[in-house]
Amino acid sequence: TSDYVVLNTGQKMPLIGLGTWKNPPDEVKDAIYNALKIGYHHIDCAAVYNNEASIGEAFKQYVGADKLVRREDLFVTSKLWNTKHHPEDVEAACCKSLEDLQLTYLDLYLIHWPHAFERGDNPFPKNPDETVRYGSIDYKETWKVMEELVRKGLVKAIGLSNFNSRQIDDVISAAAIKPAVLQVECHPYLVQNELIAHCRKHGLAVTAYSPLGSPDRFWKDPDEPLLLQDANIKTLADKHGKSPAQIMLRWQVQRGVVAIPKSVNAGRIAQNLQVFDFTLTEDEMKIIGTLNRNWRYLVPKIKIGGKFVPRDAEHPDYPF
Ligand code: A2P
Repeated sequence: TSDYVVLNTGQKMPLIGLGTWKNPPDEVKDAIYNALKIGYHHIDCAAVYNNEASIGEAFKQYVGADKLVRREDLFVTSKLWNTKHHPEDVEAACCKSLEDLQLTYLDLYLIHWPHAFERGDNPFPKNPDETVRYGSIDYKETWKVMEELVRKGLVKAIGLSNFNSRQIDDVISAAAIKPAVLQVECHPYLVQNELIAHCRKHGLAVTAYSPLGSPDRFWKDPDEPLLLQDANIKTLADKHGKSPAQIMLRWQVQRGVVAIPKSVNAGRIAQNLQVFDFTLTEDEMKIIGTLNRNWRYLVPKIKIGGKFVPRDAEHPDYPF
């Protein structure tokens, strides 16, 4: 396995990146330092994570000639937030991320979610009854301006996050520049085989977020299955002398899926990159595939009749 995939733009995207969601501003700078120091070349960011300015300080200090990594050897992703889908808001939102990150271009810019929220500077506009205030912008309109960002040289590639197959096809049908990447939740309990096959057919690379099951989410169901404690993964980990996290990340990169584990801990940041020095057998790859239970950690669940089901079954705010 090489340590990158080639996008439909010709860019090389490193298969392991550092995730920064839930990474507090005061800790993220150290995390970036620890990652760049040991050879990470890919950092995944988003405006809504509220830490791009801190990441920018780290980039200023550690990225560039004679520093830890040259800008041209670093792959940086950011994402357009839901309140910025209006065609008149897209470029300003991109420029704000660039300014915060202290960069002159992004390697990849994604539409974070297909749903537009009401325009404005409150990232989670609410109705009086506390449900989300949605906007009416079609993501195809947003996409047209994403294409402009490429033409203007602000971003090298554009893509989608949290879009399903139908929504991807819808964007492609209207696109002059096809999406290069789809980023979605993906791990051994949500293997996403059909969606990945669909993306491959249309030339999109796939990035797996929450590849370790996102155990530090602030909303956790007390009874949810804990991926990092899965007995089958543990057996494979013991067999290879690796950690369960490394097994799950190896499985992704070995099938050509980019993974962006988040960590603030130097040891775990290092461990998560050390997945290119061993191979899972075909049988082992298959075993991991059978652990699928279409389980989404990201969408909050409610308990109905003793079973956890995604909140969309009951709630108008799906998937928020
Ligand atoms: P920490 O930041 O303290 O290392 P995901 O990327 O799926 O959202 O998961 C991130 C969570 O997994 C964080 O709570 C992070 O904790 C933890 N984590 C990251 N790497 C590892 C690892 N190698 N082993 C165990 N837990 C990890």
